[in-house]
Amino acid sequence: MQRYGRFAILLHWLVGLALIGQVVFGVLLDDIAPRGTPSRGMVVNLHKSIGIVLAVLVVVRLGWRLRHPPPDWPETMARWQRRAAALNHRLLYACMIVTPVSGYVASNFSKHGVKFFGVFLPPWGPDLPRIYEVLNGLHDAAAYLLVALVVAHVLGALKHALVDRDGVFSRMWPAPSRGHGPGR
Ligand code: HEM
Ligand code: HEM
Repeated sequence: MQRYGRFAILLHWLVGLALIGQVVFGVLLDDIAPRGTPSRGMVVNLHKSIGIVLAVLVVVRLGWRLRHPPPDWPETMARWQRRAAALNHRLLYACMIVTPVSGYVASNFSKHGVKFFGVFLPPWGPDLPRIYEVLNGLHDAAAYLLVALVVAHVLGALKHALVDRDGVFSRMWPAPSRGHGPGR
């Protein structure tokens, strides 16, 4: 069975798990540093900085993916399942882009701008609270859609691993080291 390449697998797990962490960080922002407390700015800017790094990694990942076609689906996989999986992957990529970009653009319509790991990047847009609010709403909505897509994605992956056992899960899992015979 064909597999994803090593770089694709590395980026899948690195970026995927980091994104889950970033969603949790976003949801907990108000608990970690409530609005009006001294640490609020530092904590929100840490979220912004990590988010920008993740956006760069997502672009690298998508660029790599566009030059390296994924393995073919197994013959046994129904047509509707292939379509559903392909749609899930496209929407995941869309949310992985829209979430950080909307957050970044929103920050540029606020006087706070972004402090990227301590370096102030002056906002390139005017201070427009209404625009900031709309873009931030898009940021939050895209992040929640991402969560819903990840839940469906993980359930699908687990079904392949535990029920279908058709190799779709193991082709995204790091390859066993050499000398252990053919892949699982
Ligand atoms: C892929 C990366 C990112 C993910 C998954 C993510 C996710 C989230 C989530 C789940 C929230 C909480 C939403 C809520 O409480 O309803 C949040 C809040 C926030 N994010 Fe992000 N974020 C990312 C990147 C960014 C970036 C790049 C920026 C700005 C440069 C940013 C700025 C903010 C701000 C200012 C808030 C708090 C504002 C608010 O919603 O009240 N985020 N983020
Ligand atoms: C944590 C549990 C996760 C599991 C078990 C998992 C499993 C998998 C598997 C088995 C594939 C390969 C599917 C195929 O062969 O077509 C895959 C692909 C993919 N996964 Fe995940 N994944 C997880 C988390 C994530 C997360 C958090 C994201 C994004 C936020 C993500 C985004 C993707 C994307 C976009 C693809 C398509 C790869 C491509 O063809 O470019 N995954 N995942």
